Amino acid sequence: MRDLPKIELHLHLEGAAPPAFIRGLAREKNIDLSGIFREDGGYAYKGFDHFLQVYEAACTVLTGPEEFRRLTLAVLEESASHGVIYTEAFLSPEFCGGADLAAWRDYLAAIEDAAAEAERTFGITLRGIVTPIRHFGPERAKATARCAIETFGPFIRGFGLAGAEMMHRPGDFSWSFDAAREAGMHLTAHAGEWGGPDMVADTIRDLRPERIGHGINASRDPALVEDIAERGIVLEVCPGSNVFLAAVPSWRDHPIADLMARGVKVTVSTDDPPFFHTTMTKEYETLAKVFDFGESEFETLLQTALSAAFCDEETRGRVKARIEARRG
Ligand code: ADE
Ligand code: ZN
Repeated sequence: MRDLPKIELHLHLEGAAPPAFIRGLAREKNIDLSGIFREDGGYAYKGFDHFLQVYEAACTVLTGPEEFRRLTLAVLEESASHGVIYTEAFLSPEFCGGADLAAWRDYLAAIEDAAAEAERTFGITLRGIVTPIRHFGPERAKATARCAIETFGPFIRGFGLAGAEMMHRPGDFSWSFDAAREAGMHLTAHAGEWGGPDMVADTIRDLRPERIGHGINASRDPALVEDIAERGIVLEVCPGSNVFLAAVPSWRDHPIADLMARGVKVTVSTDDPPFFHTTMTKEYETLAKVFDFGESEFETLLQTALSAAFCDEETRGRVKARIEARRG
């Protein structure tokens, strides 16, 4: 499972920070973060809202471009060790200089520098999706949209929306999504992780994304599932995250197999792997065990992700060639 070539489209860069990495930076900077770690070294939190608080506390040690360069390299090395050959990461200018454009450019240069090094060293390609934090509100999202549009190019490919889903309505972010779309950016938004089918439907109507982060609660409304399948909207499904945060009661109850059977385009990702004690290898192993996924299902997931990736066509061709080379 570990060696199977994989593509991951839903990964929060800061959320992928190993706890030891964050603890090490806290020690270097004399910042007391003891409250966010368990005795065994993992992140300590209870439930989604607290998870977001611990996540933001961890980000306080990522104080400059150099910290993001080191983080990016560490995350990509870990992903590559699980067979990931292409990944898209949510990058938040809010955590990279407070959504100030000049600062954001400096942070981004460091992230891109690390991505180039990781591509040479570990054979993994990274592309970025600029993502406002929903609970910071629509006005701050506009500053993030400006950062996104100004740096849209071969590396920054898309615009997203993450954070507390039950705060604000999707339409509150229309200005930012319209601006990103007009600039030619690809679009995705978290919806239906916590919100019901209405949240997914409103997100599709008001933000018009090509992909949806999670989207699993759409499964409760057969007509909506049919609509998503017909429109070819791709779901970035993160089963291990959903089970760990109790967005679904158990792996058995996860709707991923059912959504695929109903014709929805589905991909698999880890979301914030160390927070949820997962890896791409573990996701694949559990899908095999619980839903009997085999060669054919994993091939479908790979091809769906390859087609749905926000990269340019030259990059897509390079990733395709890398898949074929891995297979020998
Ligand atoms: N930010 C990081 N992980 C997230 C998740 N699972 N949902 C919403 N926002 C997030
Ligand atoms: Zn997410």
